[in-house]
Amino acid sequence: MNRLLIVSNRLPISITKQKGEYSFQRSAGGLATGVGSFYKSYESLWIGWPGVNVRKNNQKEKDEICEALSAEQCHPVFLSPYDIRNYYDGFCNNTIWPLFHYFNHFAEYDKHHWNVYKKVNESFCEAVLEVARPDDTIWVHDYHLMLLPQMLREELPDAAIGFFLHIPFPSYEIFRLLPWRKEILEGLLGSDLVGFHTYDYLRHFLSSIRRILGYEHTLGDVTVGNRTVRVDMFPMGIDYQQFAEAAESPAVQEEIQKAREQYGDRTIVLSFDRLDYTKGIPLRLEAFDTLLEKKPEYQGNVSLILVAVPSRTAIEQYQALKQQIDELVGRINGKYGTTEWLPVRYFYNYLPFEVLVANYKLADVALVTPLRDGMNLMAKEFVATKTEGKGVLILSEMAGAAPELGEAVIVNPSDRDAVMDAIETAMAMSEEEQSERNRIMQKRLQRYDITHWAADFINRLDDARLLQEKRSER
Ligand code: G6P
Repeated sequence: MNRLLIVSNRLPISITKQKGEYSFQRSAGGLATGVGSFYKSYESLWIGWPGVNVRKNNQKEKDEICEALSAEQCHPVFLSPYDIRNYYDGFCNNTIWPLFHYFNHFAEYDKHHWNVYKKVNESFCEAVLEVARPDDTIWVHDYHLMLLPQMLREELPDAAIGFFLHIPFPSYEIFRLLPWRKEILEGLLGSDLVGFHTYDYLRHFLSSIRRILGYEHTLGDVTVGNRTVRVDMFPMGIDYQQFAEAAESPAVQEEIQKAREQYGDRTIVLSFDRLDYTKGIPLRLEAFDTLLEKKPEYQGNVSLILVAVPSRTAIEQYQALKQQIDELVGRINGKYGTTEWLPVRYFYNYLPFEVLVANYKLADVALVTPLRDGMNLMAKEFVATKTEGKGVLILSEMAGAAPELGEAVIVNPSDRDAVMDAIETAMAMSEEEQSERNRIMQKRLQRYDITHWAADFINRLDDARLLQEKRSER
């Protein structure tokens, strides 16, 4: 197996600096969690942004970070405050993120942001070229780096280059709104293999390249000049064993014990996400409010644990959402709370792994109702921790995970009454039925776990490259 170069905007480890001291933290989000769980089992190097702001001329600090990260098989690409403002907050998270999640009314089309996006993709290209060896397999991840495959192809015409998109690829009708749609597609087509989580995303991509660039495909193989680009789906899995085993560990049991002392034997509904408008958190709270109002018998008997992990806090939409959530929680707690019972326990924080697993394990119901989500690994993690069988997953039909988790209670996340009914259905479900549904999902998640997912992608990439080589020999 050749060395694997993983390239993504964010490294799996984020560094923060306080009072001159560095601290290392696991990065949040599906990409860092998923890819972070297997990359060390390969001979690999992960290239990306360590999340910390370092002055341009401070070479000493850069060298220190570089050295610290090399122990984690990571190599930093430093972004300046200007890059963060225009590329990360700007083009990535104010244009592509909202557009690809069907929030096109939030998307800004700013030419300057686009130019900086191109420039930062070039910096990543340079960073890869600095460390790349001739036989490396290069795997580029996510929407921050969609121009990179073609940039790399121009420099390394024979390299094996794969790209995986962790967010939805939207329908052509949405994608076509992007002024730089052609450049983005051409950038992606520098890869030998382009992967998506679901069949729908793949279909939307093929339709966009046909309608925008005029490329036809045969069973997912697209001919681009003298190359063939393969397009396929790879629904990302989780490190199933890690979650199932952690659920039984003494550290997690201890956390559960502590939580039980607080919550007593109340039914616990869990909502856990990055604080992002795509996740549909306000509607969830409204559904919970309506449930308590319409069915007062639940008052005092059910608690909602709401964990929102801080994310992209410099962006206005995220700040507004934070305020909205704070107000909603305050309103619900003010309306129904008593000295003995707080309806919503709200944490705006990053949870350590054991506490996260304890929350999954403790929860009777997980409310995973994003308005759009590329995959949603939390839904899968919740199911994996249900080692005793009990627990109900309520899952949005708009999450990429929904086609794989059909035994969950599936809802339309925009339908407040449906979400409310789903909570009731979940709470009323017999333990036998809960266990049966979880058992089926667990088997499926165990079979196609993160290790299989990665191996599957890498094997398909190797095949695509071999095919390419044979064609060029002819
Ligand atoms: C999503 C994206 C990832 C991203 C993560 C966290 O899962 O697909 O690429 O890393 O969100 O977002 P952040 O902006 O903090 O990297």
